Amino acid sequence: MSAAGAFITGLPKAELHIHLEGSLEPELMFEIARRNKIAIPFKSVNEVRAAYRFSRLQDFLDIYYRGADVLRHEQDFYDLTRAYLARAAADGVCHVEAFFDPQAHTARGVPFAVVIDGILAALKEAASDGMTSRLIMCFLRHLDEDDAFATFKAAEPYFGCIAGVGLDSSERGHPPSKFRRVFAAAGAAGLKRVAHAGEEGPPEYVWEALDVLKIDRIDHGNRALEDPKLVARIKAEEITLTVCPLSNLKLCVVGDMADHPIKNMLNQGLRATVNSDDPAYFGGYIADNYAAVAGLVTEADMAELARNSFRGSFLDAAATAKHLAAIDSYSA
Ligand code: ADE
Ligand code: ZN
Repeated sequence: MSAAGAFITGLPKAELHIHLEGSLEPELMFEIARRNKIAIPFKSVNEVRAAYRFSRLQDFLDIYYRGADVLRHEQDFYDLTRAYLARAAADGVCHVEAFFDPQAHTARGVPFAVVIDGILAALKEAASDGMTSRLIMCFLRHLDEDDAFATFKAAEPYFGCIAGVGLDSSERGHPPSKFRRVFAAAGAAGLKRVAHAGEEGPPEYVWEALDVLKIDRIDHGNRALEDPKLVARIKAEEITLTVCPLSNLKLCVVGDMADHPIKNMLNQGLRATVNSDDPAYFGGYIADNYAAVAGLVTEADMAELARNSFRGSFLDAAATAKHLAAIDSYSA
């Protein structure tokens, strides 16, 4: 491992933007498909990987939902989550705030309880190895708000185990305001709120996510940089951006990693973080994402990105302070 790679791996960090379904590696996809007796339209792991070429978000989503179709039983969700957590721990992640997409499963007849029970069992097991976690339930924005509300209701018995709600899937044409009522209900229930905004969608969607959905954190947020007033707002309110460099490259949000805005975000005083989004599809876990921007930022910047991941987390002040101190002593 290079010196930069060793520094990145050893840096204590939180991951705040990871879709568990997006961590389904082709090997596990094949194994689960075999045991569930599901035919998949690929002959080999290499063939699956070769299909992962995207020119926009929707290309990826089409294949992501097809991949998730192999997940049917509690064991499948447990195995998926366990594999991600082990991989993240190997990259120096000590706290994770993970997304899951219940509607991608309930729409196929998989009960909500099957999905979340498998995920929670894996999170609980990882906790005994020192990995802390929060779970964030995302609504699929290409579906209507009534569908999101049905999911919200199904989740109610689990609110003690769900830290917040999120908003993901096809951004263009599905503005945050479409989910005004269900986000208000989530806030009233004491849940945190986050939303994908400004990945492909315009700065107006970021304004809406802030003003209408009252979000605590912005997922991606790249296109916020097009609007100086929005940048000033995000800075003044210290709102965290969960940025995903390899995802941005693979989904053509940036044309070249050399043009990635991560350094610009830091220079403008924004609380940017680095995350993997859908690591099985975009060619890397969190350490790979830090490494992908290593040519753009200094080691001190990387330590600041890692500090931001804890500052922007839903951990309490004492836990956050403990992780920040660990970074200070690591990077001193
Ligand atoms: N679902 C999984 N990954 C996503 C992304 N990058 N954007 C929107 N929805 C997603
Ligand atoms: Zn995402």
